[in-house]
Amino acid sequence: MPVNEKAPVLLNMELGCGLWLMTLRSPIIARAVEPGQFVHMLISGMPDHILRRPFSVYAVDVDKGLLEILYQVVGVGTDHMTTLAQGAECELIGPIGRGWQPFEDTSRALLVGGGVGAAPLFMLAERLVAAGVDVDVVLGARTRAALSTLDHYKMLLAGAEGCTRDKPRTITDDGSSGRKGLCTVLVEEALAEAAEKEAPYDYAAVCGPEPLMRAVASLTATADVPCEVSLEKRMACGVGACLSCVVETIHGKRRACVDGPVFMADEVVWA
Ligand SMILES: Cc1cc2nc3c(=O)[nH]c(=O)nc-3n(C[C@H](O)[C@H](O)[C@H](O)COP(=O)(O)OP(=O)(O)OC[C@H]3O[C@@H](n4cnc5c(N)ncnc54)[C@H](O)[C@@H]3O)c2cc1C
Ligand code: FES
Repeated sequence: MPVNEKAPVLLNMELGCGLWLMTLRSPIIARAVEPGQFVHMLISGMPDHILRRPFSVYAVDVDKGLLEILYQVVGVGTDHMTTLAQGAECELIGPIGRGWQPFEDTSRALLVGGGVGAAPLFMLAERLVAAGVDVDVVLGARTRAALSTLDHYKMLLAGAEGCTRDKPRTITDDGSSGRKGLCTVLVEEALAEAAEKEAPYDYAAVCGPEPLMRAVASLTATADVPCEVSLEKRMACGVGACLSCVVETIHGKRRACVDGPVFMADEVVWA
């Protein structure tokens, strides 16, 4: 059950390329959150803006009661967030939504994060690595400086016994890290390698810009790999009441905030 928890800011740090990392003290939500779930944040010091902003939980430290949000500055709310210093008090409703739901017997997983979409996948990667799953991570961004989660993923995979690859595959628009091009190039390669080595993935998860998710949904469907996507719809209430976040699925309209944000890719009716 989501709770409403006051969450003081402990750290708010610029990572570059309009990306920021915010650490908040929120012990109840940090303990309860599952990979892929999100919090709905009432941003401190914005009394004229009553609408909360949804953010995926990037990482938690349950013992210290902390959670981290990786955010991209895109508008008035995220711009204001950059001004919050230690001690500013936000309010979070969470954890909300259906998170990632890999199968119990998943043995080989392909995780694809485009831009800030790498954030909601990190706790999933941790969970899968801890379960001994062979996790293959594809990260894409405009430029090296925007691959802000790369070191974190590298640390995770370097110590992971069950993983064939000890670091993420990376690609950037300008070629400053890894290959030059779009994430889908690496996804195609990964799927082709898996077929060649007869070591198929049995689960895929993707988060990022909608065209990326749509493309990965199509590639994984062709390769017969079940795939989940995390949809970032505009949200008002965040609790299923206002219908501002409706997603078309093959089962009819669904609310991204409570029925998602994670959906099976083959259930989404892509625009
Ligand atoms: C479940 C979920 C998880 C998310 N997780 C993250 C995350 O981990 N990190 C992150 O940086 N962002 C995340 N987002 C997007 C984030 O909520 C928006 O970027 C944020 O609300 C924008 O607020 P703003 O006031 O700065 O923008 P506004 O001034 O309100 O709008 C500026 C621009 O942002 C777009 N925008 C506004 N709200 C959303 C939204 N809910 N989703 C997508 N685009 C939006 C608008 O279309 C507009 O183009 C997530 C969204 C959802 C639905
Ligand atoms: S945001 Fe109100 S129903 Fe989803």
